[in-house]
Amino acid sequence: MRILFHAVDANPAPWLADLQAALPQAQLRVWEAGDDAPADYAVVWKPPAEMLRDRVGLKGVFNLGAGVDAILQLGDALPAGVPIVRLDDAGMGVQMAEYVTWAVLRYFRRFDQFDAQQKSGQWRFAKPHDKRSFSIGILGLGVLGQRIAAALSPFGFPLLGWSRTPKDLPGVACHAGSAGLDAFLAASRVVVCVLPLTGETTGILNRDTLSKLPHGSYLINVARGMHLVEADLTALLQSGQIAGATLDVFRQEPLPAGHPFWQEPRITITPHIAAVTLRGDSVRQIAAKIGRMEAGHDVPGLVDRTRGY
Ligand code: NAP
Ligand code: GLV
Repeated sequence: MRILFHAVDANPAPWLADLQAALPQAQLRVWEAGDDAPADYAVVWKPPAEMLRDRVGLKGVFNLGAGVDAILQLGDALPAGVPIVRLDDAGMGVQMAEYVTWAVLRYFRRFDQFDAQQKSGQWRFAKPHDKRSFSIGILGLGVLGQRIAAALSPFGFPLLGWSRTPKDLPGVACHAGSAGLDAFLAASRVVVCVLPLTGETTGILNRDTLSKLPHGSYLINVARGMHLVEADLTALLQSGQIAGATLDVFRQEPLPAGHPFWQEPRITITPHIAAVTLRGDSVRQIAAKIGRMEAGHDVPGLVDRTRGY
């Protein structure tokens, strides 16, 4: 079995060593420009089109992330009919749970306010928000959205969720489709975006949708920067409609020097670290999925190219 590897910004050596240990029968190689020799599988993150275009004989492409927006952008350069498999959880669920729990509790208990007070040497008491109205709405109830809901559940916040297809999750008021979006927004004091980036979800966090939240709401975006219309958020923070935002992802990454978000005290910025790809978990998952594919079984995390995730 021949496996091609290419991951931008990653040192390939430890990946190849771990993949080799997990799949001793495999012949592994790092893809380099001009390499069109046969391969059975490709393990990739943000591959260039030339790596995959016109490639025959591939049995599967493994995306080293949960989001597939970058690879699907290759469009017709992706070999037709070859399964694209994303990471499902692979250690990201717990990281997302940690990140979102931190951000929610920070707003709920007003730690953001106490941080600001400390900077100006102020000792001022403030009660937490009223928990009954501090409802958390999760946009995207897939692998990561459901893990976030499970992590928040013990705190007793009212929980809501929104997905493309209807869901029935205990303790979560589930809404679905465009028909369910307004009711979801009207009842969410904190919105957590963990949607895939698709044609339908690009720009979904905009002046119109964010204005439907209760006044003084919070936004946590851990999905993709293109979900948010950044100028709209700035305006809504200035009007008080949005009280604060925690953003892990941006339209341009790294966030450029001089971007207005750097100077906005109500925005908390992290550098796309909400849930990082963990090599050990990812290699174990990919090796197990290759084993299943070789045995003719289905694998979880198969991407639907038409749906976009
Ligand atoms: P997933 O399991 O595929 O879940 C996606 C969820 O979004 C599903 O519930 C899906 O609805 C819903 N959805 C998709 N399109 C929709 C639409 N048009 N309207 C309403 N709901 C829609 O994906 P995941 O593993 O949870 O990952 C989600 C995203 O997180 C990734 O795509 C990636 O962009 C992002 N991410 C970010 C980081 C980071 O570090 N910041 C790390 C990992 C992942 P259905 O359930 O009905 O299909
Ligand atoms: C990271 O952003 C991922 O999609 O895995």
